[in-house]
Amino acid sequence: MKLLVMGPPGAGKGSQSRKLVKEFNLTNISTGEMFRQSYERGENLGIEAMKFIDNGNLVSDEITNEIVRKRLFEEGKEEDFLLDGYPRTVAQAKALDGMLNEMNAKLDAVINIVVDKENILERMVGRRVCRKCGYTYHTKFKPSHQEGVCDKCGGELYQRVDDQLESVRNRLKIYEEKTRPIIDYYKGRGVLLNINGMQSFEAVYRDIKKALRDIT
Ligand code: AP5
Ligand code: MG
Ligand code: ZN
Repeated sequence: MKLLVMGPPGAGKGSQSRKLVKEFNLTNISTGEMFRQSYERGENLGIEAMKFIDNGNLVSDEITNEIVRKRLFEEGKEEDFLLDGYPRTVAQAKALDGMLNEMNAKLDAVINIVVDKENILERMVGRRVCRKCGYTYHTKFKPSHQEGVCDKCGGELYQRVDDQLESVRNRLKIYEEKTRPIIDYYKGRGVLLNINGMQSFEAVYRDIKKALRDIT
């Protein structure tokens, strides 16, 4: 299965993707997470990318397309995967089409998680992320057992720089300008699944699975 998970910043893409890849045995490809992990490893790519990410701006299409291509082709051809947070511009969507053509493959579904602005802001300010494994928590909706420590690996939990209000505002603006148009790009192909993201983690996941069952 080849899935794409879309939605505004803080919609719950990462949270839902984690469950989907586990249940359906998919390779998780999150461009945001790849950039953050690269930064944590002290690599040039991550350091350069973070200059854009911290302010809530997009990394260039060129760099982003390249890391996805590398992941899909050079590090062992992936049969089943889930893309979280890519594509984010129409140019990236076209680049992905090119890659899929080369693989002689197509997307089975594009899951679009719909959340309104108030929910997004609350989710962002409370989010905490593990420095070591990238697992995501929320101070109110999904607290770790011990404050500041990851349940999964014992790593330190931190607040993303781009979760500060200024950056969040910019990310929302960029989402509207650059990313929302992609919804129409996929709508015409009959693969788009709109999911109400303003429910509990479990209810969102249940709806995604139901929608996937209906199309397969
Ligand atoms: P990325 O990491 O992808 O950030 P994003 O798209 O802004 O999305 P988030 O990760 O912030 O949110 P999410 O939807 O995954 O929500 P989550 O599950 O964490 O990208 C970061 C940056 O990298 C971009 O701004 C850009 O600079 C760069 N980048 C990445 N991809 C790029 C690309 N393709 N092109 C160019 N640049 C790119 O949930 C959020 C919080 O809410 C959590 O605390 C969670 O616990 C909580 N929560 C989730 N669901 C629920 C629920 N149902 N109920 C209650 N709480 C919930
Ligand atoms: Mg995410
Ligand atoms: Zn961890």
